[in-house]
Amino acid sequence: MEPAPETPLPEVAVNFALTWDGRVSTRARTRADFSSPRDKHRLLELRAGADAVVAGRVTVETERMRMSLPDAELRADRVRRGLPPEPLRVVVSGSGALDPAARIFQTDAPPLLVFSTEQMPVPTRAALAAARATLHLGPGPRVDLRGMLALLRGRYGVRRVMCEGGPGLLRSLLEAGLVNEINVTFCPRVFGGAEAPALTGGPGSFFPSAVECRLESLEPLGGECFARYSVISHNP
Ligand SMILES: NC(=O)c1ccc[n+]([C@@H]2O[C@H](COP(=O)([O-])OP(=O)(O)OC[C@H]3O[C@@H](n4cnc5c(N)ncnc54)[C@H](OP(=O)(O)O)[C@@H]3O)[C@@H](O)[C@H]2O)c1
Repeated sequence: MEPAPETPLPEVAVNFALTWDGRVSTRARTRADFSSPRDKHRLLELRAGADAVVAGRVTVETERMRMSLPDAELRADRVRRGLPPEPLRVVVSGSGALDPAARIFQTDAPPLLVFSTEQMPVPTRAALAAARATLHLGPGPRVDLRGMLALLRGRYGVRRVMCEGGPGLLRSLLEAGLVNEINVTFCPRVFGGAEAPALTGGPGSFFPSAVECRLESLEPLGGECFARYSVISHNP
């Protein structure tokens, strides 16, 4: 993972559903299934607008993600725009403790890239390669996310990334100053309690300074509200 430092990076957008008390999941970190069917379709529309969809290991496993585009109209529209029918799929895991039996490895194209580290067990490497995943393994223990984005742009031509979580990966991206856009669906639910993860995870240290955002659009969606923000200043 050694593209030239001046390699331009893709634009990074993220997308989350949030309860009104700012939670992205339950305290047991179960599947986040509290938004409407309309919001789930919007997620596919956002996915269709990206060259690559990125998610962290825990989200891929918890949500049983395939990260595909199961909507013929959205696929056809991409083809009309001269794009492949579906975006690249990208999974991030420092530990490399991925389950080769997970749903994401059981599906056909589009191509799947796994960014991980040399901590990934050798049998897992073989099993993922057999599932036609392309592995990018760095020295670790974490994935160099800036290097990953530069490689996505330089080698795979990715100009726009849609990160679908989870909070751990979002936190890493924000810490590295790599997020350009935050999409949030505010859902009319209140969980209560402090143990369920928020947008950037569980209780943890504060950022050195707040990440400042600007509201770009706000759209009611039934009982929900969809907001798009651009990030205007990152941590120093
Ligand atoms: N409401 C929503 O819209 C929404 C969206 C997504 C997820 N969720 C929920 O969020 C919960 C999962 O939260 P989470 O924070 O555990 O999920 P996550 O961000 O998907 O996964 C965290 C894992 O991603 C990997 N990772 C993140 N940054 C990394 C880096 N810089 N280098 C290497 N690896 C990195 C690590 O994997 P390793 O441990 O393998 O090193 C880390 O443990 C689930 O309940 C899910 O349903 C909700």
